[in-house]
Amino acid sequence: MDAVAHNGVLAARKADGWEFMQAMRIAGGRPLSGRIEISGAKNAALPALAASLLTDGPVTLGRMPDVVDIRTMANLLASVGAEVEARPDSYSIRANGNLDPVAPYELVKTMRASSLVLGPLAARCGRARVSLPGGCAIGSRPIDMHLDGLKTLGATVRQDRGYVEAVAPKGGLVGGRIQFRRPTVTGTEDLLMAAVLANGESLLENAACEPEVVDLAELLTKMGARIEGAGTPTIRVDGVDALAGTEHAIIPDRIETGTYLVAGALAGGELTLEGTRRQHLEPVIAKMRQAGCLIEAPDDSTLVLRGTAALSSVDVTTREHPGFPTDMQAQFMALMTQAKGTSKVVETVFENRFMHVLELQRMGADITIGGHTAVVRGKAALTGTDVMASDLRASASLVLAGLAAKGETTVHRIYHLRRGYDRLAEKLAGVGASIELIDD
Ligand code: UD1
Repeated sequence: MDAVAHNGVLAARKADGWEFMQAMRIAGGRPLSGRIEISGAKNAALPALAASLLTDGPVTLGRMPDVVDIRTMANLLASVGAEVEARPDSYSIRANGNLDPVAPYELVKTMRASSLVLGPLAARCGRARVSLPGGCAIGSRPIDMHLDGLKTLGATVRQDRGYVEAVAPKGGLVGGRIQFRRPTVTGTEDLLMAAVLANGESLLENAACEPEVVDLAELLTKMGARIEGAGTPTIRVDGVDALAGTEHAIIPDRIETGTYLVAGALAGGELTLEGTRRQHLEPVIAKMRQAGCLIEAPDDSTLVLRGTAALSSVDVTTREHPGFPTDMQAQFMALMTQAKGTSKVVETVFENRFMHVLELQRMGADITIGGHTAVVRGKAALTGTDVMASDLRASASLVLAGLAAKGETTVHRIYHLRRGYDRLAEKLAGVGASIELIDD
């Protein structure tokens, strides 16, 4: 499908003010009340789209979040030669024509997760040429483990002029034993997708256990893959000759859910979050309850949060699943600015993931950073001002701080938020937040 037709299809997805505005203005101090429907998980939807390249059959993905990273990945699939049809919350992909296994710089530069097409393209086409990724500026974020894994599966990997190229042996990739130096989420997903079409058996050791990896394994299994152990550190794959099309609904977004839990805790009131999955939120719920938040789970897909005035400080250390997610660190820090006492927030997954701290300080937060630890002293009186979004989750923490601040907060450069939050302003406004999108 050519780019114009494809863009036409994507334009059919709702184009609201969210698309074009550059800043978000929040008037703090309003309690939130009502229901929010949680969207599908961006980080599960991205590998699912990449997985559709593994078959010439049609793959239909339901519950797709309307966020820019998903559109970027859909554009990437189209540029490789897949037919992509986007509907309001689902995508159908058919990769049955001649595929050109190249992911160009223009598409990859905005999204690091583009490296997720390396494995599927190398497995399906025998060759993948992918520009080295950009994306959130959190630490150096290399993809060496993706490349080492492909080598273990028999590929020849070389880098030139900002691209990596992986070429499979003549008969295709071969099964192998991949030992990750440390768990990597997209690395595990990328190599899982490569291994399902490899000849023979593969073992992925020290694999990531995140729910998004499990969701991908479920999709691949529906397509005909043979996988055991997804969700544990050891994944066993028995390669098959071909995969078939299928239908799959993406899991709910646990980070979006966690972000709204913090919103409710900061703003006060009562929020009901629907269509989520409680067990994916356990580490976040546990820390929030420890801080004094009142969270109930009437069933597995609903969470109810009642705001409380008496938040107390809690220490938190980010870890791979089932630890506290690094993607909730910035939001939790915003919460801790409003808790009584001193809390230590330790980031162990990424270097340089404290970009929100300077902006929170400008709003009046008392935070000091030493290495991988931020010490947050509360309760600080936050005051609204102009702040700059730097990466996706850092931006979310500024919006959350704005809900608790006195006066108006304007968050600039909200394109970061659009990459990963489905209609954030609309959803918050729907539960009573005073929030508007403005031109910078
Ligand atoms: C994914 C998520 C991101 C989340 C992160 C950690 C997606 C699209 N993104 O990112 O939202 O914050 O998991 O939960 O799912 N590393 C290497 N070499 C590699 C790969 C990773 O050194 O080849 C390092 C990274 O720099 C980081 C750590 O491993 O320090 C974990 O990163 P990883 O799990 O790979 O993060 P992503 O998959 O990029």
